Amino acid sequence: MKETIGVLGAGTMGAGIAQVAAQSGHIVVLVDLNSDQLDRAKINLEKTLIKLIEKQKIDADEKTSIENRIQYSSEINDFSNCDLIIEAIVEDLSIKHKVFESMEKVISESCILASNTSSLSIASIGSVLKRPNRVIGIHFFNPAPLMPLVEVIPAVQTSSETLKSSVELIKSWGKTVVVCKDTPGFIVNRVARPFYGEALRIYEEGIADFATIDWAMTHFGGFKMGPFTLMDYIGNDVNYAVTESVFQAFYYDPRFKPSFTQKRHREAGFLGRKSGRGYYDYSEGSVIPSPTEDEDLGKQIFNRILVMLINEAIDAVFMNVASKEDIDLAMTKGVNYPKGLLLWADQLGLKNVLGDLERLFLEYGEDRYRPNPLLKRMVKENEIFFN
Ligand code: NAI
Repeated sequence: MKETIGVLGAGTMGAGIAQVAAQSGHIVVLVDLNSDQLDRAKINLEKTLIKLIEKQKIDADEKTSIENRIQYSSEINDFSNCDLIIEAIVEDLSIKHKVFESMEKVISESCILASNTSSLSIASIGSVLKRPNRVIGIHFFNPAPLMPLVEVIPAVQTSSETLKSSVELIKSWGKTVVVCKDTPGFIVNRVARPFYGEALRIYEEGIADFATIDWAMTHFGGFKMGPFTLMDYIGNDVNYAVTESVFQAFYYDPRFKPSFTQKRHREAGFLGRKSGRGYYDYSEGSVIPSPTEDEDLGKQIFNRILVMLINEAIDAVFMNVASKEDIDLAMTKGVNYPKGLLLWADQLGLKNVLGDLERLFLEYGEDRYRPNPLLKRMVKENEIFFN
């Protein structure tokens, strides 16, 4: 077992990851350059643990031992005894390069160096290391203590031992692990793009307003939140940045084209809940507008977004990003989709999915709607994903 875990960065993700590791019995060294951030992490952890006591998930002794297991520090040198370190600092490649180089100078030969990056290449992060076979992506979802999914991403340099022991470790923390290729957006942030992008496109075409599109996805699709409500939760700055980086990383494939509507909302400071206004107004006394509950329109909207999501999930299978089982698991455990998209495709009938995509492709003549070759092949050969 990897005994001592290092976490670099005590922000949203780092603090959550440190909590998960400490709750799993590890000694945790949590390092952040900013001491205020360390203080905040400590105070927030205490609040969280008190809530867990109230919910009778842990007792007071456990709270104390979890707290005692975390060492707070602003010195990378304090990572010297760590067996594995997860970096969760700002999403900037040159800064990550610097810290990976500095960390390698103070750690043991066998220490694994992981990054929680959402969008950067693990191969590139590891390129600065003297022993690049110890680099790996370990990507948690927010909030880390609550979301069960973790994507583990071996880079081309990663050794099989690094992969094996990282997967074992994260599983021992009670997480659902999916292994995926070092490709932009990994599984979830790639496959989920049309949930936002196609919803925005439908709005831009004037087919429906935000509330109606949200209603279509929750009412007909069983999604917990509609795309606009969800983007307002995530923040239009954050969600737009992921969209833009995936678009660039795919060499500007039109499937991933960002939306002007979202860009303008971000530029206007309509970031979502955190700024009091996004697609909806969250200020005191304001009411969320009601949807137009037109069954036919709602079904059309839901279906169009769903087939686009399915096409993306199929592309991830086609390009060997991960196994079909892991792709379905990732979307249900990482972003709470009501059903895996490949299973959903089987249930809808692959022929129907293909038919809908072909109609969209014909109508718009845009590459964005091109049906995946694997889908075409499977329909031709009368195959399904799960028997
Ligand atoms: P954050 O902004 O909340 O926290 C970053 C922390 O890193 C801050 O406390 C900052 O003081 C510290 N920091 C910055 N440079 C540092 C350095 N050189 N040395 C030590 N500490 C340093 O960021 P957040 O949201 O926690 O994201 C961290 C990483 O996790 C990013 O790579 C992000 O892409 C990824 N991620 C974020 C998710 C999210 O929903 N926020 C979800 C999954 C991954």
